[in-house]
Amino acid sequence: MAPHRSSTRSSRKAGSEPWVHTSGTEIQEFGTVRMFPLGLSFDARMYSCQRLNQLLADTQILYSLYKKHHWLMRGPTFYQLHLLLDKHAGEQLELVDLLAERVQTLGGVAIGDPRLVAEITVVPRPPDGVEEVPAMLSRLIQTHETILTAAHDAAARAQEMGDDGTNDILVSDVIRTGELQTWFLIEHLVDTPLVEAPHNGHR
Ligand SMILES: [Fe+2]
Repeated sequence: MAPHRSSTRSSRKAGSEPWVHTSGTEIQEFGTVRMFPLGLSFDARMYSCQRLNQLLADTQILYSLYKKHHWLMRGPTFYQLHLLLDKHAGEQLELVDLLAERVQTLGGVAIGDPRLVAEITVVPRPPDGVEEVPAMLSRLIQTHETILTAAHDAAARAQEMGDDGTNDILVSDVIRTGELQTWFLIEHLVDTPLVEAPHNGHR
């Protein structure tokens, strides 16, 4: 039974009863920025937030693809790739937080709900089942390239508009991490002999 209204009030005054089941109106719409005194124009902050949110959505998808492929991996290199993809997933998750908090720092609203992520991302949806291992790796590499291409462009545009902080995050974190992870994936797609060098001339 719900407590009597007046007793609830007095308990709340004492700081012991939580206010739960509260609903309210949205206080800042998605796609808007608040007036933060950062020495950056409104246009620069609006532009950066839009680009950062797109990268945030695509990075959340990349994180999820890494987890999916970490779980679904198979074959003789299962253990190595299982571990590598989980490491990359963890690093992408750090980028998700970094991108989201950059949006908030600029006065914007970061994408948080995966249903909005799904609406906004430009990364193609994979099959729900299991792909062949090279196809899984290629899918990750292509997703990296999509993000890298957008990050290079967004970094240059952010710098043109004076947003050095966003440029720094995109170059130092998003681009450098993405390039390094791409290298580690690509080396698994080189069909190199493990034991015998075909051109060694010692046969
Ligand atoms: Fe795991």
